[in-house]
Amino acid sequence: METIRVELAERSYPIVIGAEVLDQVRDFIPAEVAKIAVVTQENIPHRPDLEGLDFRVFTVPDGEDAKSMSVAAELAEGVAEFGLSRSDLVVAVGGGVVTDLAGFVASVYYRGIRYLNVATTLLAQVDAAIGGKTGVNLPAGKNLVGSFWQPSAVICDVSTLSTLNPREYSSGLGEMAKYEFLGSGRLDARDLESAVARCVAIKAAYVSRDEREGGKRALLNYGHTMGHAIEALGLAGKSEHLYHGEAVAIGLVFAAHLAHSLGRIGYNELNAHYEVVERMGLPRWLPEGLDVEETFPYLERDKKAMGSMTFVLESAAADGLEVVRGVSREDVRRAWAEMLDGRPR
Ligand SMILES: NC(=O)c1ccc[n+]([C@@H]2O[C@H](COP(=O)([O-])OP(=O)(O)OC[C@H]3O[C@@H](n4cnc5c(N)ncnc54)[C@H](O)[C@@H]3O)[C@@H](O)[C@H]2O)c1
Repeated sequence: METIRVELAERSYPIVIGAEVLDQVRDFIPAEVAKIAVVTQENIPHRPDLEGLDFRVFTVPDGEDAKSMSVAAELAEGVAEFGLSRSDLVVAVGGGVVTDLAGFVASVYYRGIRYLNVATTLLAQVDAAIGGKTGVNLPAGKNLVGSFWQPSAVICDVSTLSTLNPREYSSGLGEMAKYEFLGSGRLDARDLESAVARCVAIKAAYVSRDEREGGKRALLNYGHTMGHAIEALGLAGKSEHLYHGEAVAIGLVFAAHLAHSLGRIGYNELNAHYEVVERMGLPRWLPEGLDVEETFPYLERDKKAMGSMTFVLESAAADGLEVVRGVSREDVRRAWAEMLDGRPR
């Protein structure tokens, strides 16, 4: 078992990583808490043991649609009816959907009450449950309504991951792959607990230095710019549907091609991206039949930035990742074509 801290002065908190650590939730329930709202989903077969405490379980629907204003309102009304007060606690037990939604409700209920995340997907353990970004979706876009609201603790019980469906697990590996470019070293050389802990330590360090993503925290979005576009186009039926982490894996390879075609990295660094993604058993080719032109509306989200995009890219000169602004459509088309051409030797 390992404990890593996010250091944010009075908003600092521990992240516990280990096997069979679910019930450690009890160690993080302050004495003044009278009632606990446990937020989870029907099909998640893990619940911390809260026997003897006054708690109620609230199940929310499965899937991205659960991250909506209407589900958030229903949940807030439910916890109000239960009698949750300003000094009480929300415990989110689930993947990123549950932690984003429950965290958001906790952040606005009574203008903000404590919540604690029990992350039960690999993606939530290495990413979503840490860092205090909460939110729900609007028809106009993902995560458009949300808040920065830090949890009071995060529990990453790696034994809960054994019940995940294999593709969900693999999606978490997509986020893990990203950390290999953020200095984690080879994650497959570690056991699962230690690999999760390594990713958590990196995320915690970035959040501690830049809580609101004004600077370096943005580097955690490596692979996500094209990844999000590909994921969204899949959801819109324009290509095969990919899980988030699968799309991120392709986005990592794309970012490497972009950096390579801009002269920022050489073949060795480009090939390293293929190697990491392949080693993790993730997809590394652009989805069949997808037209690069269709990605621009997603890449140029800020309407004022038409024709000029922002990517996180590797740079040999900077010896790491950088936020690069002013990437043109022509740059993206060239990198896309190079990636379609196949794996370089
Ligand atoms: N807040 C952040 O910083 C952040 C970062 C990354 C992603 N996210 C968000 O996270 C969400 C995706 O999260 P996710 O990939 O964890 O998906 P998810 O929460 O939808 O979980 C995937 C599926 O696995 C099930 N499940 C969860 N734990 C299980 C377990 N232990 N055993 C069996 N089934 C289990 C869930 O019920 C669900 O059906 C997206 O909405 C994304 O926007 C947020």
